[in-house]
Amino acid sequence: MSETSQLLAAIAGTGRDAVRGGYSRPVFAPAERELLDWCCAELRRRGLEPETDRNGVVWAWWNPGGAPLTGAVVTGSHLDSVPGGGAFDGPLGVASALRAVDLLRQRGVEPARPLGLAVFPEEEGSRFGVACLGSRLLTGAISPERALALTDPDGNTFADVARAAGLDPAGFGRDDEALARIGQFVELHVEQGRGLVDLGAPVAVAGSILGHGRWRFTVHGQGNHAGTTLLEDRRDPLLAASRIVVAAREVAAGHPGTRATVGRFQPVPGGTNVIASRVDLWLDVRHAQDAVTAAVVAEVSRRAAELAAGEGCTVEVREESLSPTVEFDPALARRLRAVLPAAPLLPTGAGHDAGVLAAHVPTAMLFTRNPTGVSHSPEEHCTDEDAELGSVALADVLQDLLLSPA
Ligand code: GLV
Ligand code: MN
Ligand code: MN
Repeated sequence: MSETSQLLAAIAGTGRDAVRGGYSRPVFAPAERELLDWCCAELRRRGLEPETDRNGVVWAWWNPGGAPLTGAVVTGSHLDSVPGGGAFDGPLGVASALRAVDLLRQRGVEPARPLGLAVFPEEEGSRFGVACLGSRLLTGAISPERALALTDPDGNTFADVARAAGLDPAGFGRDDEALARIGQFVELHVEQGRGLVDLGAPVAVAGSILGHGRWRFTVHGQGNHAGTTLLEDRRDPLLAASRIVVAAREVAAGHPGTRATVGRFQPVPGGTNVIASRVDLWLDVRHAQDAVTAAVVAEVSRRAAELAAGEGCTVEVREESLSPTVEFDPALARRLRAVLPAAPLLPTGAGHDAGVLAAHVPTAMLFTRNPTGVSHSPEEHCTDEDAELGSVALADVLQDLLLSPA
């Protein structure tokens, strides 16, 4: 087994989800914290002391020359997962970063500037609803007030959960000092589609991230008894919500290139013999042109209002997050491709902390082949050989960056 796979093997038993399959590692919950402990132990084993900043981002610095921590090369990813997710989304980037440090040392590389390793909390937004929450807080893309008031599915606020994890809610917010430490950021991630499979290559350089956002639709109706309420007397929000799901697909199909998904749908109270009083559903829309995303959401919202009214219900729509399309720094992407001439340039439809950081610092990504092309699912995969090839590619890129001034 390769060294990268050996790192991942140490966490393979953590956060397994016996009900959904795969892994459920929500941020600040025991499984994600266990992974963070593992990461910190691996950092310390390499003589790198982890520190947590005021936004909950964990950093460690390899800085043999004792240079000032500005304009550093930084790599890293995340350790939280979607519910029932795969083993590689996030952890592969962290394991590859650790392995890349080992490779650089084995090669005798003496960095001209510091190398930072970073782990970002709540990249998936699967606990508090806003993806890339740590990098958004760090860059000021979300206000601390809004972030602290976010709640998880059990009603716990981000403020309370963060406090319980040892963070001070008063410290959250844009951190220009932390940003100034980053000269270039390079995140390695398992590919979440089948671009590399189709091209027959193990590693790609990222070109862009599709703009994407999340909207919460709340349909209000009349909760009632399944046996005593005649069909003509019902105001069933679940019926309206189901039609909204279908409408979202129809609207998206009318705008080529759109991806529209409802992956979360919650009737309240959710009893077999109960007509729901309310349904919450979350719409995820992605398109390369942000104006198309906005048009799709506007059209779905208009149809949702009509469909709800047709069932005697009402609907509220709230935007939970929005990330514009990101074109990664072209000069940095060219540089990565010069180091890795066999690596194709690939766009992605998946969001990443690198996408949030890209508005502030030159940012690039590497993707490692996923033979199933499936992600956010237990079927997500990366072969032993490719995992190591990805780490080697990351080390090659970091070496090139580290040996030249910022
Ligand atoms: C995260 O992977 C996302 O694209 O939502
Ligand atoms: Mn990810
Ligand atoms: Mn993901």
